[in-house]
Amino acid sequence: MRATAVACANIAFAKYWGKADPWLNIPAVPSISLTLRGLETVTTVELNPALECDEITIDGELLSPPESKRAVELLDAVRACAQSRCFAKVLSRNNFPKASGLASSASGFAALSVAARAAYGLPFDPVESSRLARRGSASAARSLFGGYVELPQGLPGDDSLAARPLYPPEHWELRLVVAIVCEQPKKMGSRPAMEQTRASSPYYAAWLEHAPKLAQRIREAIAKRDIEALGHASEASFQAMHAAAWAAEPSIFYLEPASVEALHTIRSMREKEGIPVFATMDAGPQVKAICLPEHAEAIAQRLSNTKGVLRVLITQPGPAASLIESPS
Ligand code: DP6
Repeated sequence: MRATAVACANIAFAKYWGKADPWLNIPAVPSISLTLRGLETVTTVELNPALECDEITIDGELLSPPESKRAVELLDAVRACAQSRCFAKVLSRNNFPKASGLASSASGFAALSVAARAAYGLPFDPVESSRLARRGSASAARSLFGGYVELPQGLPGDDSLAARPLYPPEHWELRLVVAIVCEQPKKMGSRPAMEQTRASSPYYAAWLEHAPKLAQRIREAIAKRDIEALGHASEASFQAMHAAAWAAEPSIFYLEPASVEALHTIRSMREKEGIPVFATMDAGPQVKAICLPEHAEAIAQRLSNTKGVLRVLITQPGPAASLIESPS
């Protein structure tokens, strides 16, 4: 029994940061993202009765037991559902660098959840796969769907939480220009960083109160295809998330000098040249510019000429996760 699935990365406009339930990995705030065409993980899951444990290989590297823990937990959940005891070999490939600051965990857990269910004989079900992926990494729940996607906030104990599609990719031809400023692995993963923010930041409570309001503005802006409204609310979301993390003790600070330069480039194009372009950032130093297709090339050019920017990618709305090979 063997199945292969593909899923794309996503970038959030309304950021998920903080958990209502750390055991079930349930977000404390709603998040809204865009799935990105071409930034893909392809994952094959093959059942093998001769194996004594799951074997997980990502981009040619066999993961150690601690590294494979979350993927094995996902496989355990699928096995429980399928009433199987058979271990699996998992081969996963990203077509974008792991350390490029584009979350490969989102596309990775999304592709794994689709391929694993199919390999264990369960029917294709994006909502079920989104739930499964959420436990692995909550941002991955959104990569099950194409285009504009929401993962609502959840309640402790509510393991049914899954993402839902808001609009297909064709709804709005936005572009996200990614300025890569550092290719080293990030300083601190999202999971421990969220926990440190919750445990010690005086601004965490303010973030929890404010984030749903920003998500509402972002939902409305996407519905109306209003770039100004989307851009201002998205900047506010990432800045409030970073501010809460920055105020933690010890402080969590993801910006590199080149990130600050890139943020200035974006602001100056907007304020001095009147181009509707807005920034967002995740738990890392890369800067992503949100813009319309007609401005993407000029923005990419300016970002690639910005001090410290290593390279630039132009991305666009992408499709839902899918099966590319199912067991015959
Ligand atoms: C800043 O989904 O990586 O990218 O659920 O603990 O695995 P876990 O966290 P993860 O966090 C992503 C955080 C973010 C914002 C976002 O994508 O919404």
